[in-house]
Amino acid sequence: MTVHQTDSPTFADPAASATSDPSAADRDCRRRPGLRGVLHSVRQKNWDQHVGDMEAMADTEGFRALRDRIIGLASMAPGERALDVGSGTGLLALAVAPTVEQVYAIDISAAMCRRLASKVLEARLANVEVRQASATQLPLPDGSVDVVLSNYCYHHLEDRDKERALTEAWRVLRPGGRLVVGDMMFRVRVTDARDRAVMTSIVKSMLRRGPAGLLRVLKNALRYLTGRWEHPADVDWWRAALPRAGFVDVQVHPLDHEGGIAVARRADPASS
Ligand SMILES: C[S@@+](CC[C@H](N)C(=O)[O-])C[C@H]1O[C@@H](n2cnc3c(N)ncnc32)[C@H](O)[C@@H]1O
Repeated sequence: MTVHQTDSPTFADPAASATSDPSAADRDCRRRPGLRGVLHSVRQKNWDQHVGDMEAMADTEGFRALRDRIIGLASMAPGERALDVGSGTGLLALAVAPTVEQVYAIDISAAMCRRLASKVLEARLANVEVRQASATQLPLPDGSVDVVLSNYCYHHLEDRDKERALTEAWRVLRPGGRLVVGDMMFRVRVTDARDRAVMTSIVKSMLRRGPAGLLRVLKNALRYLTGRWEHPADVDWWRAALPRAGFVDVQVHPLDHEGGIAVARRADPASS
């Protein structure tokens, strides 16, 4: 699915790109042998069924504030090219498009991509390309973007896939390019004070919604116990994983809810 192209590099030819294949997620699963592979695929969320939910979430005050913070930290200039990883229905991609030269938006879900592509057409944005692909195998050439942005995508990947995704983000950034990621950043554990506070606050806010909230708490507990919970990593994990993927100037800021923002840069050997 492609919406407009400029002189900037375009998404890799589908024939040459494993990730342009709609079954990219399945392919990720098949790499895991035996029972682990089967369990992994059972746990995968079918994002195609959540387009409406994501659109509603992206329209909340909290997500809009996070979007503005991420975009502010990325400080993009007019001639730059940005990649939005796990773009969903376009919270970041649509907001940055008017200010940069080119936006690439990738998401594992075909339905999210279709929704975003239709919004791009509706808004007559001529510089946004949308492609169904996995964060772990980006369909872009090495060094082809100035900025990689992402919001609330990476915590849906297990840690080893997050590491692969960060290495991919590093690969597609030009030397000197920036990464800005907003995500859920805590672990479900009671030994850490911030994690404990985050969990208490989430449970309290759900319980305030009455019986529906209580049901949600129980559902989430069940998902956690059966391994169908998301995979948020804490701030310390991000501080260690980004340099492992090759990034420098790493800063990870916990926010006053469960989220955090990570900022990093691909080193530019020419400027050191
Ligand atoms: C919580 S939504 C956030 C969407 C959007 N960034 C926003 O802030 O509104 C998470 C998105 O990540 C996408 N996603 C999940 N796993 C992915 C993967 N491995 N590669 C690319 N996208 C993925 C989902 O399809 C979904 O659109």
